[in-house]
Amino acid sequence: MLQIEILPTSPTETNEFEKAEWSAVDEEHWGREIEWKLVDYRFKALLDGKIAGIIFGKFEAGTTYVDNIITGKEFRGREVGTKLMEFIENWTLEQGGHKVWLVTHKKWRANSLYLKLGYQVTATLKKHFLTEDFLLYEKFLTE
Ligand SMILES: CC(C)(COP(=O)(O)OP(=O)(O)OC[C@H]1O[C@@H](n2cnc3c(N)ncnc32)[C@H](O)[C@@H]1OP(=O)(O)O)[C@@H](O)C(=O)NCCC(=O)NCCS
Repeated sequence: MLQIEILPTSPTETNEFEKAEWSAVDEEHWGREIEWKLVDYRFKALLDGKIAGIIFGKFEAGTTYVDNIITGKEFRGREVGTKLMEFIENWTLEQGGHKVWLVTHKKWRANSLYLKLGYQVTATLKKHFLTEDFLLYEKFLTE
């Protein structure tokens, strides 16, 4: 029996392995050479010079995941969230992307914001964060 050890590592140590191994598999998966563009993003919305809201997540292979959007309590309902979402949609197009996606709890008020902006619920993630059901929202930007 092989003795296999699993240990923590870093991107620096594994980048070369990752690149070489994936490029060998890309031809099989996609039938061509592909670029898997990855960008971590984080933006702030300023109102009168103060941080009124933030949005962050990851752009990956044409899709932007909104991991987190929050506005300051005193700024809510003043379109800061709308502006952050619209900004990230335009930024996604600038990155060459076609879609924004996120998940939210079905009972949270943010649902109406996403629906207003044209996002569609395409799945329920059962017993997801803290074992609660979450909704998957998607918006296609180039159709
Ligand atoms: C959701 C959130 C980012 C929207 O930002 P915002 O600046 O308030 O949004 P806008 O003013 O552009 O749009 C208004 C919409 O935001 C949401 N919203 C407004 N006030 C809110 C509040 N006090 N709490 C939660 N959501 C609120 C509602 O969907 C609202 O639409 P509605 O008036 O039709 O119900 C913000 O309210 C917030 O930070 N909520 C708490 C954190 C959160 O739930 N983040 C989303 C996780 S998926």
